[in-house]
Parts: sequence; C-alpha cells; structure tokens
Amino acid sequence: MDPKGKVAIVTGAAMGVGKGIARQLAAAGARVVIAEINEDAARSTVEELRADGGNVEFAHVDVRVDSELRDLITSAPDRFGSLDILVNNAGIRRGVVFPEVGPELWSGVLHIFLRQVMYGTQLALETMSDRGGAVVNIASGAGVGFGYHNWPEYAVAKAGVIRFTTSIVRVAAAANVRVNAICPGWVATESVSEYTSGWTEEEKKKREVPDPMVKPEEIGDSVLEFVRDDTLASRVMLHYHPNDRKLVPVDTEY
Ligand SMILES: NC(=O)c1ccc[n+]([C@@H]2O[C@H](COP(=O)([O-])OP(=O)(O)OC[C@H]3O[C@@H](n4cnc5c(N)ncnc54)[C@H](O)[C@@H]3O)[C@@H](O)[C@H]2O)c1
Repeated sequence: MDPKGKVAIVTGAAMGVGKGIARQLAAAGARVVIAEINEDAARSTVEELRADGGNVEFAHVDVRVDSELRDLITSAPDRFGSLDILVNNAGIRRGVVFPEVGPELWSGVLHIFLRQVMYGTQLALETMSDRGGAVVNIASGAGVGFGYHNWPEYAVAKAGVIRFTTSIVRVAAAANVRVNAICPGWVATESVSEYTSGWTEEEKKKREVPDPMVKPEEIGDSVLEFVRDDTLASRVMLHYHPNDRKLVPVDTEY
C-alpha cells in the first residue's frame, strides 16, 4: 500500500516511539491521527509535525476504555474519511512489578499492552474490511525468547502480541487486512533515557543497551516497510540495532 493520502491512526503518538512513527507516516504523505490520552503533549506534537508539512491531527482517546477505542476506530471513515493504517503503540511506563503487586495492578499491564492491542486489531478488521488495510502492532524484544526478564507482566503481554499477530493470519486475510508486529529493542526515547539515567557503562553493557540506540523514526521506517509491502502479513520484525531489521521466518502452521 502506498501510504500517500491514506489515513493512519497511531495510538500513543505524542512522544517516544509513536511520535517517530507518526513523523515517518506523515513524511510519506499519510494523513496521521495522533490518538492520545495526553492532550497537551499531543497538541504540541501535532504543531511540530505540521510545521514540517505533515497532515496531522489529534484525537483524544484512552485506549484502555473499550468504548473510547471502539469509537475512535469505527468512526474513522466518517470522521477522517477512511481508515487504512492502524498502529497499536500506546503504552505505560514501568512501575512496581510482579510479584510485589497483585493482579489488580499487573493485569493493568496485560490490559493495555495485550488485550487492547487485540481489541484494536479486531475493530480494525471490521472497519477496514471494505477497502482493506494494514495494522502494525508494536511488540518488543521483551516478548521474544526464553530467558529472565525484570518486568514479567510486560514480557508476557508482548509475547502475547507476537503470537496474536501471527496466529490470526487467515482471519485477517479474510478481512483483507495485513497485521504485522515490530519488536524494537532499546529505542532512544525520553522514557528510556529516564529509565537508564544513572546506569554505569558496565550496567548498560550487561543489559545490552546498544550505542547508538535505534531512533523512534527508524521504528517508523519499519512500520512503513510493513505498510508498503503487500506480501507481508502476520510477520514479525526484530529491530534491535540501527540499520538492522530482521524478519522472523514463518514456522509451522497448526
Ligand atoms: N522505548 C523503547 O525502548 C521500547 C522498546 C520496545 C518496545 N517499545 C514499545 O513502544 C511503545 C511506545 O513506548 P515508548 O517508549 O514510546 O513509551 P512512552 O511512554 O514514551 O510513550 C507512550 C505514549 O502512550 C501514551 N499513552 C499512555 N497511555 C495511554 C492511553 N491509555 N491511551 C492513549 N495513549 C496513551 C502516552 O501519553 C505516551 O505519549 C510501547 O508499546 C512500548 O512497549 C518501546
């Protein structure tokens, strides 16, 4: 799909990874909706991307609330003229983690990072089915592998996003929608610099923080690759280092 003139919703695009994605989609000529809970930050991002010539607007949403997510996605054809691209990106920052907190807190992590990605995708399949479209789910390297992770509920949610994206290949194709996932490693965002500030070089090395890190705009370029290449459906891209994107091979179907 050529993104030029297409309508793209990016959730959580006021800052960080989502902002980089919005910037690259806008630079490619898409009409970009910054779907955000943080209105002030979103409005300043809209201004910044418009100043660069982007066709960008703000839509208020709390993706955790089903009715708000549903209204945003299903009303897009009337409100914005179409819905061609959805990027499920919004996320929260790390707080206290399993097992220190109970289900009421850790299930909130599963809710925003997994359940609402599934729900957003389901709504996009319904809404896009006339013209077809592309959904890109932002997973994480945290969801890949079999080793220790220091935020278990986050790793579980991201692993779930990967498996969800790959397992729906046939139903998504029936709806004429391609759903893919990107697993960034460490991305150079405000949240990461906050989280890693104070770490020694040794700690950064131990935690495999690359230097330089991938920029948010480079994740935006990975999104564009999935949007543009109509042969890619239910594929997973690992993007851990600058200029190093790997598509994970498709394995056995059950
Ligand atoms: N930064 C990284 O290194 C990294 C690595 C791998 C994956 N990711 C993934 O990228 C995505 C974005 O992460 P980030 O680091 O840019 O985070 P961030 O905290 O910098 O930005 C998240 C954005 O989501 C918005 N948001 C939060 N809750 C929301 C809600 N309920 N409804 C709507 N918007 C909401 C925030 O206002 C913010 O603008 C997440 O899914 C994250 O897991 C990030």
